[in-house]
Amino acid sequence: MADTPNLRFDTQQIHAGATPDPATGARQTPIYQTTAYVFRDADHAAALFNLQEVGYIYSRLTNPTNAVLQERIATLEGGIGAVCCSSGHAAQIMALFPLMGPGKNIVASTRLYGGTVTQFSHTIKRFGWSCKFVDFDDPQAVADAIDDDTRAVFGEAIANPGGYIMDVRAIADVADAAGIPLIIDNTSATPYLCRPIEHGATLVVHSTTKYLTGNGTVMGGCVVDSGKFDWSANDKFPSLSQPEEAYHGMKFHETFGAMAFTFHSIAIGLRDLGMTMNPQAAHYTLMGIETLSLRMDRHVQNAVKVAEWLEQDDRVDYVTYAGLKSSPYYERMQKVCPKGAGGLFTFAVKGGYDACVKLVNELKIFSHVANLGDTRSLVIHSASTTHRQLTEEQQEAAGAGPSVLRLSIGTEDADDLIADLDQALTKATA
Ligand SMILES: Cc1ncc(COP(=O)(O)O)c(C=O)c1O
Repeated sequence: MADTPNLRFDTQQIHAGATPDPATGARQTPIYQTTAYVFRDADHAAALFNLQEVGYIYSRLTNPTNAVLQERIATLEGGIGAVCCSSGHAAQIMALFPLMGPGKNIVASTRLYGGTVTQFSHTIKRFGWSCKFVDFDDPQAVADAIDDDTRAVFGEAIANPGGYIMDVRAIADVADAAGIPLIIDNTSATPYLCRPIEHGATLVVHSTTKYLTGNGTVMGGCVVDSGKFDWSANDKFPSLSQPEEAYHGMKFHETFGAMAFTFHSIAIGLRDLGMTMNPQAAHYTLMGIETLSLRMDRHVQNAVKVAEWLEQDDRVDYVTYAGLKSSPYYERMQKVCPKGAGGLFTFAVKGGYDACVKLVNELKIFSHVANLGDTRSLVIHSASTTHRQLTEEQQEAAGAGPSVLRLSIGTEDADDLIADLDQALTKATA
């Protein structure tokens, strides 16, 4: 049952992309733990290497377990194709790689995961790329920041560390008007809560490390293509619209049409950058995705309950969770992710930096880790960890100031989580 276009989300998350194994009938998708694949004959090998036939050559490029995961995520996101890779950060590079070149820039939201701010502020400069950070609540400022060398607009649907919902449609309209793609990091929302392509996004990236796998076992990333962008409409995307020397002058867009981006990501991106997902990781993520909707509903239900409790507590300064009626983003949430604002949010502790540090040490159920999207509840003091490479101004802009803790609410019993926070707050603010 690989062809699932009319089925609903809960069915697709179990079946999309998968059929019983043709060799053995195995019902579960096997882990194809192989590096290479035997060619039928020399002509078959030549056709595969020329991209005249689709098939398996070498697991740096394609692997049958990964292929199931790619199709599953593409289906859940409403995309036409997807490519998995070794981490969420790898996915960001993979998404930008076909679009960018030396001297080109991206316009990105100020509200991003701290690691992404670092990647975009510093590391991409080594490729001759640059990034301008803009407040995405101001679409005109986004439009003003786009120049002739801008090749993409980048934001998170529900931003990590939480509390912020992006008006994806408004920013997609700005990107459309400029003739460039909008890339959405949908890690914190997942396609169950938000489908950015339906709001006009061209590409969706994921850290599959988080909610898609859901249990903190493996690293991974994914880039999903909507298949809706016309890469040949202007001369901005030569990697996709112009002849590719490595394939005898073939033009990816002309040859593969709507699948151009996905084919380029495999045939050039994975081939040469080598950020490949291993099939064991693909297996764990496939297992996780089977229960995505069930987990996300519970994450949201628990997050609302814990955030409401924290909001009324005197020891707490404020809670930034878009699922709270008091949030400035509550209304936008109904439009962008009506099933809920996810399981991630921040709160500020009275007592500042020192109280935060004490609190993370006192928590018993919450683990102090640099991760999110696990079934277990997690906590982190972003200013001293994930966001410590940022300036204080960037930390504040990202919602990760010194008195702020980020919670990733798990799927345990919410009352136990509240009791744990209560005892730790008492000790931290004594
Ligand atoms: C929203 C978001 N995007 C991307 C990443 C990077 O993903 P990875 O750690 O899998 O490289 C993270 C990691 O925390 C994240 O939270």
